[in-house]
Amino acid sequence: MCLTPSPESSSDPLALGIAFMDDSHQALHEKLDRLSSVADEEFAAAFDALIREVHAHFMEEEQAMEEIAFPGIACHRDQHVQALNALGHACMRVKEGAVAEGREIAGLFSHWLDSHITTMDRMLASVLQLAEAQGTDCITA
Ligand SMILES: [Fe+2]
Repeated sequence: MCLTPSPESSSDPLALGIAFMDDSHQALHEKLDRLSSVADEEFAAAFDALIREVHAHFMEEEQAMEEIAFPGIACHRDQHVQALNALGHACMRVKEGAVAEGREIAGLFSHWLDSHITTMDRMLASVLQLAEAQGTDCITA
């Protein structure tokens, strides 16, 4: 895997310095911001699209973890699974008409994402940067 470093900004606490992660996180936050102003009748489709984007992003991170044999992959993947399960359940409720619940879950997910980025993803980014600096495809414990 070839990692492209992103211009890490010290003023942005969510910037990790790994382009594919920073770009995806920014896109997710923009989508979450737009979701908050979507009309009720369009919310289910927009929420569904958000979940698909989240899933794709998580898969991308998990592929990167597998490629470097990241020691924390099980714990990190568990967090992804739990978040997707919660979003999937909320999406079913939204499709039953519970749009307000979906809006609340989207807000909670936004906070969860910030926390996840500054903890689990930051740890992953550090190990990815180390692997890139060492020119290795595999991190050994
Ligand atoms: Fe993650």
